[in-house]
Amino acid sequence: MKTRIKNILQEKPVGQLVSLGGWVRTKRDTGSFSFVEINDGSCLANLQIIADEKLGNYVSDIKQVSTGSSVMVEGTLQVSPAKGQDVEVHASCFRVIGKADPETYPLQKKRHSFEFLRELSHLRPRTNALGAVSRVRSRLSYAVHQFFQDRGFAQIHTPIMTTSDCEGAGEMFQVTTGQEKTKAEHFFGRPAGLTVSGQLQAEVYALALGDVYTFGPTFRAENSNTSRHLSEFWMVEPEMAFCDLQGNMELGTEIIKYLLQDALTHCPEDMQLFDKFIEKGLLQKLENIVQKDFVHIAYTEAVERLQNAPKKFDYPVKWGLDLQSEHERYLSEDVFQCPIIVTDYPASIKPFYMRVNDDRKTVAAMDILVPGIGEIIGGSQREERYDVLEARMIEAGINLADYTWYLDLRRYGSVPHSGFGLGFERLVQLVTGMANIREVIAFPRTPGSAPC
Ligand code: 4AD
Ligand code: MG
Repeated sequence: MKTRIKNILQEKPVGQLVSLGGWVRTKRDTGSFSFVEINDGSCLANLQIIADEKLGNYVSDIKQVSTGSSVMVEGTLQVSPAKGQDVEVHASCFRVIGKADPETYPLQKKRHSFEFLRELSHLRPRTNALGAVSRVRSRLSYAVHQFFQDRGFAQIHTPIMTTSDCEGAGEMFQVTTGQEKTKAEHFFGRPAGLTVSGQLQAEVYALALGDVYTFGPTFRAENSNTSRHLSEFWMVEPEMAFCDLQGNMELGTEIIKYLLQDALTHCPEDMQLFDKFIEKGLLQKLENIVQKDFVHIAYTEAVERLQNAPKKFDYPVKWGLDLQSEHERYLSEDVFQCPIIVTDYPASIKPFYMRVNDDRKTVAAMDILVPGIGEIIGGSQREERYDVLEARMIEAGINLADYTWYLDLRRYGSVPHSGFGLGFERLVQLVTGMANIREVIAFPRTPGSAPC
């Protein structure tokens, strides 16, 4: 039975036979034996294997093996006399499974830039940093489900292909078979695209099951080449019936704190690596976010703060304009130095489904902005009043006939309800300290780039 390095290092069954497989990170030959460090991806640490010349294939295979080759090893776990590791394996069998030509294997021992590694999305998970990001991402995904399931939320699998543009921003990728003979012919009877958000369908189920969430891939055909935008990204979207903006903000705060704490608790080794090599002080920063209250501020006040800031911004600040990343980061990094929740944005810059406030100019929206990233959560209380919603949709130029189902939710048993979208990659960026979003998703899709 194969054992994973993580388990070997946790349990340390000294004196016992272990059997494992992995990829060679480094090899050093000294006279009659070789030290081979292998990594199997189960954890950050390598395991040192000692292979000596008494092994039948020592000269023919083991001495030839180089970085990147895959090997299978059987041997006895021993306490290591050397510095740097507690235990090592004395191999009784060492098989080289797949060689990696040292002349062409691109991952050498030195540190490579993330830009270079992006060109190698098929090999980069074998590096320390990208391996660590992948493990932490997986853990966070598990924790998202745990968070909601423990609180009685039901997961809804909302559709990937849809005929509704939730954000109304015209950023949908079109879905066609490529075989349509006329422009009027559509596979689903009308134009369809890849979803930009599962929210509208989540609302359907919130108004039946109460508390629901959807967690899946979403797509945006926006031409943004930034360190925070992807064309395909994952979103966590809870939707709650009988819940106002206050309850929504509480859930958003709670989930961010919960997920950061989960990574700190369950991925200590990988988190240490990020703290040391990716963002100095990361662990302290995350612990502060978990401990401190988030600041609440209305959009109007945020605009005033920005207008009075002793700093020049590239983009204009004016009531009625959306906040740009530089504004969001100034508020959370320089002014408050903690996550902030900005509420009550102008209706004119927010989608049709957000609940109109009594002032008729603003909506019950809330964005959560975090240091280093800016917007990580976008959400709102939803408009539950039929007439107000209908008027907003007409104003937004939406064809009501396509949304009778959505309006029906307000016609039959409408309730105040709220929800938000948490950008999963932006969360993984926050947790790992990775500066560019392309490093926290396995196969990033951005304008002009989708290599494999
Ligand atoms: O603010 P957004 O556009 O909100 C919605 O889509 C709502 N329908 C969600 C809801 O209420 N259920 O997106 C939500 C979050 C953003 O705060 C951001 O973290 C992330 O999704 N996001 C992106 N992440 C990566 N690349 C992009 N292009 C993103 N666009 C939004
Ligand atoms: Mg938003």
